[in-house]
Amino acid sequence: PKPNGDPTAMLMKSYACQRRTPLKHYNSFLTEALEILSQNAEYNDNEGRSVAFRRAASVLKALPRRVRSMQDLRCLPCLGDHSQRVIKEILEDGSSREVESTRQSEQYQAMKALTGIFGVGVRTADRWFREGLRSPDDLIRTGQQLNREQQAGVQYYDDLQKPVTKAEADVISDIVEKAVHAVLPGAEIQLMGGFRRGKEVGHDVDFLITHPEEGKEEGLMPKITNWLKEQGLLLYQKTTRNSYLEKMDGPARASSNMDRFERCFSIFKLQKSAVSCKSSSTASAEDVSTARESERPGEHQSEASGWRAVRVDLVVSPYSQFAFATLGWTGSKLFERELRRWAGQEKHMSLSSHALYDSKQNLYLRAKTEEEIFAYLGLEFIPPSERNA
Ligand code: GTP
Ligand code: MN
Ligand code: MN
Repeated sequence: PKPNGDPTAMLMKSYACQRRTPLKHYNSFLTEALEILSQNAEYNDNEGRSVAFRRAASVLKALPRRVRSMQDLRCLPCLGDHSQRVIKEILEDGSSREVESTRQSEQYQAMKALTGIFGVGVRTADRWFREGLRSPDDLIRTGQQLNREQQAGVQYYDDLQKPVTKAEADVISDIVEKAVHAVLPGAEIQLMGGFRRGKEVGHDVDFLITHPEEGKEEGLMPKITNWLKEQGLLLYQKTTRNSYLEKMDGPARASSNMDRFERCFSIFKLQKSAVSCKSSSTASAEDVSTARESERPGEHQSEASGWRAVRVDLVVSPYSQFAFATLGWTGSKLFERELRRWAGQEKHMSLSSHALYDSKQNLYLRAKTEEEIFAYLGLEFIPPSERNA
């Protein structure tokens, strides 16, 4: 959006997939508050309310300037009464009582801590909360039954709470590329999720893998994870097989966010020295020598260990579905949700990470690029860096 002009005169489209939403915007003082209420609604199993607050926040992210008065909100879509009340209070008093009491509440804090454990969803966290448990420590102390995923989640909790940096993501990219090419030369690997949208940090690193010869990608994941295991690079992995069958699943699944690709939820063991080397690998010889110096044993003693745990998601897609998978795994989550809603409500189509089905023509629309998919949907192409809805 252009930085000049009257924002009230600017036409704000109502679906997030019709708008350009940059990573950095002018209204985080409002969007953070609304997102706390959204998160809290999710913890209370109120999806409708959660999405409403998230949509309201997303509209403010797309504004070309900071909101200074309620006047600035005239003509904006997706701002319900409740969101407007919260915004008004923040504009007038600097904060909202509802947001602050939510932030401080025992339930919000415990649910945040518990759902922050890899492998723990809202349902499980809520059950634990009602049993009086508040943190990962409480789970260990009371000897809760945990599945394999949750055990890893508790074991690496501190590391997995730390944001993953772009430099770390780049090192992981090199490792994944090496692993994939070792087991299937010619395969293509793409960084997905938040890092593809230009984020500087993330909660994990997401990759999409394919091969130009359809069929070559079948059964690829176990080969990749075996290679990584042999190199001692995997702390945890769980692979689910590809279960997508166009005829059987059809377009009905498109409303669900879950897809059926061969997929691996994993935790990598990342050597910290690899990250400092990588950060200086494009630098001059002088910089490289300082990087080596920082690797002296003395420096390393300040850290508990020479490695950290990092969450990595790997997805394998057949070449014919690669464009859909790319669009589906770039995010943001709200952008994806809005794309599917747009397709269904406005175009009588159903979009998934596998395919686009046109219900009027009764056929699947093939696409090789994201651009083609936006065109089918009658949407202006939005680049990944502006999908931060
Ligand atoms: P951070 O990792 O927190 O930085 O943000 P992110 O946007 O990368 O989120 P995340 O890694 O959770 O998800 C990346 C993208 O993959 C998002 O657009 C999600 O909607 C999408 N995604 C996650 N899980 C699934 C899934 O099971 N199926 C499909 N189709 N998409 C998924
Ligand atoms: Mn991610
Ligand atoms: Mn992910």
